[in-house]
Amino acid sequence: MRVLITGGAGFIGHNLAIRLKNKGFEVRVVDSLERSTSLAVKKLEDAGVPLTRAGVTSTDEVKNVLKNIDIVVHAAAYTDVAESMENPLLYLEKNVLGTASVIEASLKTGVGLFIYLSSAAVYGDPVRLPVDENHPTDPLSPYGLSKLMGEEAARFFSRLGLKYVMLRLFNVYGPGQNMAYAGVITRFIERACKGLPPVVYGDGEQTRDFIHVEDVAGAVELAIESRHVNQVFNIGTGRPVKIRDLALLVMRLKGVKGEPVYAAKRQGDIRHSYAEISKARTLLGFEPKIGLEEGLKKLVQETC
Ligand SMILES: NC(=O)c1ccc[n+]([C@@H]2O[C@H](COP(=O)([O-])OP(=O)(O)OC[C@H]3O[C@@H](n4cnc5c(N)ncnc54)[C@H](O)[C@@H]3O)[C@@H](O)[C@H]2O)c1
Repeated sequence: MRVLITGGAGFIGHNLAIRLKNKGFEVRVVDSLERSTSLAVKKLEDAGVPLTRAGVTSTDEVKNVLKNIDIVVHAAAYTDVAESMENPLLYLEKNVLGTASVIEASLKTGVGLFIYLSSAAVYGDPVRLPVDENHPTDPLSPYGLSKLMGEEAARFFSRLGLKYVMLRLFNVYGPGQNMAYAGVITRFIERACKGLPPVVYGDGEQTRDFIHVEDVAGAVELAIESRHVNQVFNIGTGRPVKIRDLALLVMRLKGVKGEPVYAAKRQGDIRHSYAEISKARTLLGFEPKIGLEEGLKKLVQETC
């Protein structure tokens, strides 16, 4: 089976590409390399995954890379919530136009399945917990809005024959994040590696659902094999973790003494969020395998 991953030189993209290649899929990636790392590009090269440098907002370029592809995993996006608050139009252009171009090209070139890496950011501040797929969508940031508009585009184009699976990812962590756009775990570990306590925005009581990138890649693999198309699935662990507890755990794993440093709360940040994952469990057979402490321990060893 021939799989194309957009944004395949990014954090999730390159981990996924290498896993699928090792599982026997014929994998190619396309990436503008705007926000990738040279290490990810090298890892793809070493694994023998072909990379095309192209932006997905250009329909012509997308059509070229989509020839003879069975499945598209669309991971290309700008992902920095804070940046999106400062420059909303950039996010609508890159993420909405990018997703619509990939969808349109997928339809025209006869791609069998479009897998969209969406985000828990589409829900906004939850009105009930855990957050299931029927929870209302009300994004708090232009990033979240852009991911939701991408979902709407896929839903609309399914009327014209597109088959899609959308995975709403919660907070993904693991090796190979670009430091400039990294999530909270990578930032905490980077400080801990220098013997410094993590910087926590707000009071640290806010919660998130952290899922390892290998478990996300496993969910994509299940989506590829699934007969349940035109569905949306939450992909998380279903377990809330307080940011303060995360900071203390990273400090313990690295032997950093004292307390985390507290800084002002960031605009656009959600207070609490964790996933209801029974739909993915039941229909995809999804089960997260890597516990937070196990994943963090390995990541701390690899990073420091
Ligand atoms: N990392 C997370 O916690 C998380 C959570 C929820 C959803 N997601 C979604 O998963 C996907 C992958 O996220 P990530 O963390 O790997 O991000 P990332 O920034 O590491 O990777 C995104 C990749 O897309 C590329 N890219 C960006 N715009 C492009 C364009 N117009 N054309 C071609 N390539 C382009 C970048 O160069 C980068 O390599 C994104 O769609 C994101 O919204 C990620």
